[in-house]
Amino acid sequence: MPNLLPSEFYESAPIIDLQAIRLNDVHVIQVLNLQKVNPLLNGNKYFKLKYHLLHAQKHKIGHLISMGGAYSNHLLSLSKAGRLFGFQTTGIVRGDELSEQTRNPVLKYCENLGMRLFFISREQYRLLRIDPNPILKNIGIPEGYFIEEGGGGTLGFKGALELGRLVAALHSDFVFCSCGTGVTLAGIIQSAPSGQNTIGVSSFKASYIKKNIQTYLLNSGNNMHVFSPDLGGFAQKNKSQKKTIAYFKSKFGLSLDKVYTWKTMSFLKDYVAQKNIDRNSRILFVDTQSENKL
Ligand SMILES: Cc1ncc(COP(=O)(O)O)c(C=O)c1O
Repeated sequence: MPNLLPSEFYESAPIIDLQAIRLNDVHVIQVLNLQKVNPLLNGNKYFKLKYHLLHAQKHKIGHLISMGGAYSNHLLSLSKAGRLFGFQTTGIVRGDELSEQTRNPVLKYCENLGMRLFFISREQYRLLRIDPNPILKNIGIPEGYFIEEGGGGTLGFKGALELGRLVAALHSDFVFCSCGTGVTLAGIIQSAPSGQNTIGVSSFKASYIKKNIQTYLLNSGNNMHVFSPDLGGFAQKNKSQKKTIAYFKSKFGLSLDKVYTWKTMSFLKDYVAQKNIDRNSRILFVDTQSENKL
């Protein structure tokens, strides 16, 4: 493992990997593949973690704390960043019943990278979102820098704005992006030129995501579109998921993930067909996934 400082790591510019795919007889989609943005730390996490990591480095903070569900890609990427830059990391996981269970692959990966895991009840988790300090103290987490769920907060949004500017420079008519907390989409919406329709796809209630996004935006968010298609619950397996992932892999070599990006791509496919989107429209799919390998 290279022993890097975040400031050295972020000196090199993100790699823009664009792949054009012909979705049907009419539409061509550009895929902005964030797995390739950097070989060491990538996906939307490359952007969302950037200013948190730089902040920790600047203030000589050695311990990073954050929160997430049992399948949190954010915790996984944070553990990776911890290993990469030499931070201690703690992950607070939703669901105290999980503490006694065999670790799923995501949590196992986090622990293997040195992240210390704490499991708390759903009620405590809800309170942690609102005011972390009393809960952190209560469960005995050592002092550190707390990063909001999903890598959000002001500094997470600052990184998402950088992704938004890269997206804006591609001059698309339609931009599709997966949402969890909505921070990534907020950055893309805030940076969008007029004429760019920015469409978020979420496993969670669209009203919740919109409300969250609105807390970040400096504008009215009039151009915000968020959909929660009925494609099965968060991280649940189903036939359509398997088929979509296999199709995009074999036809275009695209690796869609089982939680977020397969849903967004499924939604996009139906959307462009049902809305009769003009064949000359420039359509961009932001593939937010991290490769998640060290
Ligand atoms: C692959 C992928 N896409 C999208 C998201 C959602 O990002 P956000 O929480 O910024 O909405 C995540 C989680 O961070 C993710 O792992």
